[in-house]
Amino acid sequence: MEEGNEKAASHRIVASDDIEVSTYLEIAKEKQGVQASPKPGDIPHGVREAVAIIDFGSQYSHLIARRVRECNVYCELFPYDSPLSKIMSIKPRGFILSGGPASVYEKNAPLTPVGIYESHLPVLGICYGMQSITHQLGGTVAPGSKHEYGQAVLHVSDENSPLFKDLDSSLTVWMSHGDEIMDMPAGFRSSAYTENSPNAVITDGGKLFGLQFHPEVAHTPQGKQIIRNFLFNICGCRGTWTPGNFIHESIASIKEQVGDGRVICALSGGVDSAVAAKLVHAAIGDHLTCIFVNNGLLRREEPERALETFRKNLRMNVVYVDATDLFLDQLKGVIDPEKKRISIGGEFIKVFESEAKKLGKIDFLTQGTLYPDVIESATPESKAAAKIKTHHNVGGLPSKMALTLIEPLRYLFKDEVREVGLELGLPEDMVWRQPFPGPGLAIRIIGEVTRERLEILRGADWVVMDEIKKAKLYRQMWQTFAILTDVHSVGVMGDYRTYGYLVAVRAVTSQDAMTADWARLPYNLLATVSNRIVNEVPGVNRVVYDITSKPPSTIEWE
Ligand code: XMP
Repeated sequence: MEEGNEKAASHRIVASDDIEVSTYLEIAKEKQGVQASPKPGDIPHGVREAVAIIDFGSQYSHLIARRVRECNVYCELFPYDSPLSKIMSIKPRGFILSGGPASVYEKNAPLTPVGIYESHLPVLGICYGMQSITHQLGGTVAPGSKHEYGQAVLHVSDENSPLFKDLDSSLTVWMSHGDEIMDMPAGFRSSAYTENSPNAVITDGGKLFGLQFHPEVAHTPQGKQIIRNFLFNICGCRGTWTPGNFIHESIASIKEQVGDGRVICALSGGVDSAVAAKLVHAAIGDHLTCIFVNNGLLRREEPERALETFRKNLRMNVVYVDATDLFLDQLKGVIDPEKKRISIGGEFIKVFESEAKKLGKIDFLTQGTLYPDVIESATPESKAAAKIKTHHNVGGLPSKMALTLIEPLRYLFKDEVREVGLELGLPEDMVWRQPFPGPGLAIRIIGEVTRERLEILRGADWVVMDEIKKAKLYRQMWQTFAILTDVHSVGVMGDYRTYGYLVAVRAVTSQDAMTADWARLPYNLLATVSNRIVNEVPGVNRVVYDITSKPPSTIEWE
């Protein structure tokens, strides 16, 4: 660090014109052990507005992406060690460097690819990202005397900063850092401070910015405006990433990719596969055939309704397979939740494959994979190691079918998928359907899955949904459902003793299912739900409400 400082000082960097940036680059390259090349990069701006987010492993990285997309700007997350050519392939108009758990002064600490500075495009470093800028361009980062976690008041000292346009001069921000900027790189100045961080916001006065706090989290109430200011005032974006544009671009590229080929799609009844299928259908019409497998684990009336929507309203080719017997036979005697998942996943692939064979030559398979799944699968093994449940086990591509994948939603978040679905004319009911797990009701029945127990759960689930919809709470809830436990308890109905099932009701709010809070449903609503379940569902004499959040629980019981 000291060495970097000396070099920076000796170069008297003042502002951010080309010569000065190239001086920064010398320092940054030396720190990365890269041979310095005197030529600053000359990377063209793309036609589509895009921003690249460099991920240093912060738990908030995906939130940065969400905030950017909410500003109608396209963005992608790249692990910090991605090849520069890959990062540049989206033709970014700027970069956001995420936070991360490391310390820049440690040996082998992750650093920003030098080519990013070399591009002369705007850079916004957040927390670790800011420390990476500081360290690489000749400043000093060191452990702070005090760790700063939680909310702090930020005082803006540079009122002309484009980052703080239309914002108050004092803002509440969220801090979460142990290291701090001791010396800024030469030519940098502080634009804002907090009680503990004199350099809470730094800039070179040109296109490089660093924030010690996290603008992407809800605890920084005006954080989205700061990100918007970076995108619009500094990167020059205009917010052209809209569902309409996305549909237009996707249809053109699917048409080109598929040509005269044939595509199949597994419909689950959920919003993701429905939107993916509708998009492909809009591009290639009858070259798409959907396969809808009823695994016998769906909710009451669900297969009939989904089939009617696809066939009648949307006029899509749908092969319907009622494979209830096959799935339930395989589940006989299975109690362990993971074994249930494996059994259902394996059976699904068998049924799907055998139906697909009947269709003759098929070239492509379309799937409703979303961006969070893509991000998760790019997570280093070390982070993914503690998997609690094997989630996405239904609908996977049978590898021996050797089909090319079409995943038109692989860069979208759920809320964007819903917007696209509405724009494509899918019915609101389908677009706003709450998530439903692939293994269906099987993981909401504790113990063995039997026809009798499925019917009990369907009855209870129907009541929960009906009341939640009547109370106009359906869309506010992430998921609302019933669980059939394996507990029996004594009750009294009329003058008779009963010994019936215990049903649990679960209602949670969540942004992305990673964490969830139990919903504070009104008591009267809970009373009606409980009353209706014991009266309308034979075999149930007791209802409880689950008041645990995730963590420490999970959303599903199995
Ligand atoms: P948990 O129970 O882990 O659930 O908090 C998080 C979200 O994932 C759904 N879920 C599944 N989805 N296959 C799926 O397709 C599965 O095996 C599975 N298990 C849980 C769950 O409904 C919630 O939305």
